Amino acid sequence: MNIKEIIRKKRSGLSLTKEEIEYFAFGAADGSIKDYQLSALLMAICFNGLDSNETLELTDAMARSGDMADLSAVNGITGDKHSTGGVGDKTTLVVAPIVAECGVKIAKMSGRGLGHTGGTVDKLESIPNFRTSFETDEFISIVNKCGICVAGQSGKLCPADKKLYSLRDATETVDNMSLIASSIMSKKLAGGADCIVLDVKCGSGAFMKDVDSATALAEKMVEIGRGAGRKIAALITDMDTPLGKNIGNSLEIVEAVETLKDNGPDDLTEICVLLAAKLLELADKGSFDDCKKLAMSKIKDGSALNKLAEMVALQGGDSEFIRNTSLFPKAHYSFDIKASESGYISHMNAEGIGLAGVSLGAGRQTKEDDIDYSAGIILNKKTGDEIAKGEIIATLYSSDESLFEQAALQFNSSVTVESKKPASKPLLLNIVG
Ligand code: URA
Repeated sequence: MNIKEIIRKKRSGLSLTKEEIEYFAFGAADGSIKDYQLSALLMAICFNGLDSNETLELTDAMARSGDMADLSAVNGITGDKHSTGGVGDKTTLVVAPIVAECGVKIAKMSGRGLGHTGGTVDKLESIPNFRTSFETDEFISIVNKCGICVAGQSGKLCPADKKLYSLRDATETVDNMSLIASSIMSKKLAGGADCIVLDVKCGSGAFMKDVDSATALAEKMVEIGRGAGRKIAALITDMDTPLGKNIGNSLEIVEAVETLKDNGPDDLTEICVLLAAKLLELADKGSFDDCKKLAMSKIKDGSALNKLAEMVALQGGDSEFIRNTSLFPKAHYSFDIKASESGYISHMNAEGIGLAGVSLGAGRQTKEDDIDYSAGIILNKKTGDEIAKGEIIATLYSSDESLFEQAALQFNSSVTVESKKPASKPLLLNIVG
């Protein structure tokens, strides 16, 4: 078998066999296939797609490309949560401690930023000394001690996805439904949790732009999860506007902490409670409604916040940054975006705003780039808000002042102001499973 033949076959729109898919997934994992050939294949997949069978085979091959986590040493039921990626999406940082506090163990592997979206691992690494890389024994011991460990994708679990994920980020080959489904589900299957809740984002800031395609992605992933014997459900949630107000790594940790203090933005709090409740329901902790109340009670009594601080300390991080978020270094420069006319914000293109965050240094332009942890955006106004000419819509933050011009252009072209107040939209758009 040879990779050029596989690329040519996919470029011509033909289906790949199980053996061909295994060949390139294992070749991605062990480095025997060159990055430029994998990139060409990913582009051919984006143009010509993968059918259902190819998607299942790719998920399975990527899951088997490294170790499969054995969580049998974890005491109790295990849960996992995964988002398909959005802008300002810091839900894991809120949901994981709530669920752990309710007795469901979270042994979780998270990703880095991808395209215009942020990643939990990058966010957590803005906490000094925070570690995301563990040998299995230490990972399990942290889960058993405090109920959560959020690790990065180690070289050992799903190495094929690790390689393809970073190439997709750098080659604009992210937003293909089969690649997203197989990337997420290979990690979830290799990650080994009993119960999985998926947050499938939908709208301008998501890879899936409309409810039908988000639902189709959710159904594909739920089918893969059930086929592997997991308890799994997906919530389709709105990502037409950024979630919460803070975008950028340390800025998002600050907002997650505020949410755990019951002081967060309403949209973020609502989505976190829904996701936590769904995972608790899958873990047989009660009905969805009872689990919503249970989840909220862990915010109100401060126990979920304590749980996050405990996890940060056990993962080597300085938990004082959770107790006192003013310790996070501030960006050297800031730049206010002001409204050029009065009216209502009728739309915020979340992808454009995410890209403005990436241009400020909060994400990577190439896979080797370093992140500026203090860079990002704080929104002062969101979709539906009234705004007067000259009022601040958002403040941009960066350690490099020269980046503001491009980011401000990108931000401004993503915001629409109209004279009429737009109709409000629900946050939860559908549930699959
Ligand atoms: N999250 C992932 O892990 N993979 C994707 O492809 C998209 C979001």
